[in-house]
Amino acid sequence: PRIAVLYGGPSGEREVSLDSGGAVLRALQGLGLDAVGIDIQPARLQQQVVDSRAEIAFNVCHGAVGEDGLLQACLETQGIPYTGSGVLATALAMDKWRCKQLWRAAGLPVTDGILLRRGASVPDLGARFGWPLYIKPNHGGSSLGVSKVTGPAELDMALQTAFAIEDEVLCEDAIIGHEATVGILDHRALPPIVIETPRAFYDYTAKYLADDTRYLLPSGLGGTLDQQLQELALKAFAELGGRDWGRVDFMVSAEGRPYLLEVNSVPGMTSHSLIPMAAKAVGLDFPELCDTILRIAQR
Ligand code: DAL
Ligand code: MG
Repeated sequence: PRIAVLYGGPSGEREVSLDSGGAVLRALQGLGLDAVGIDIQPARLQQQVVDSRAEIAFNVCHGAVGEDGLLQACLETQGIPYTGSGVLATALAMDKWRCKQLWRAAGLPVTDGILLRRGASVPDLGARFGWPLYIKPNHGGSSLGVSKVTGPAELDMALQTAFAIEDEVLCEDAIIGHEATVGILDHRALPPIVIETPRAFYDYTAKYLADDTRYLLPSGLGGTLDQQLQELALKAFAELGGRDWGRVDFMVSAEGRPYLLEVNSVPGMTSHSLIPMAAKAVGLDFPELCDTILRIAQR
């Protein structure tokens, strides 16, 4: 079938997506498949999809439009099958606060947090969470607009930075320990990866630009905790109704207790990205990973 690789788009993660999408496009073409790339433009999206004469879409758009249900809804109305999760699961996964509510109700471990709305009064966050705490745009990605706030003097700037991106901002307890992530591919949890950075946290620079970010795989957490993370990842993904592939991000406390942060329904596929690393550890090289994602979307 003719494949449209959808990438780019208008979100703050556009550059990351161009990188992810370029890699996927090259891999599919390298496999001899009929694949074309489309840099999506929301106002022309329906037409772009029609013009591409694609029979299936490989979605590698991160963030707004591509990862929040809008693109998925457009593809549904066109009757074009696509990779990854559907409308509701992608919309939910993009909303950190509402995921937290769902997971908490399901008895899954989440970090404590509250939602702040633009214009509403801000409670005493230091009293509630202690320092450090995190301030995040509620629908953000790639850590854009995220601040680790170590004391009251930094709070205003952190709130301004996050509210500059959107109207809903999340304040979360900081778990001191490890950042870890678990990829999901076709009902299977890939081996956990622990991320270490000399920066304050795994921010945009640590994710894509720095060369001193360390990825531990095996994670070094031990078999029991690895397995616990994998089970939690599958449960958290299923709770949102996720499909086919995704990546679940965690904090693991110094005592070895895992906390869910979020699900990425269209995880990064760049050369620095985590799912490709985890897939490699189970014997799937990048083209095989892309081929698997495509194949399971056609079932
Ligand atoms: N949001 C980025 C692309 C990721 O989770 O990999
Ligand atoms: Mg994310």
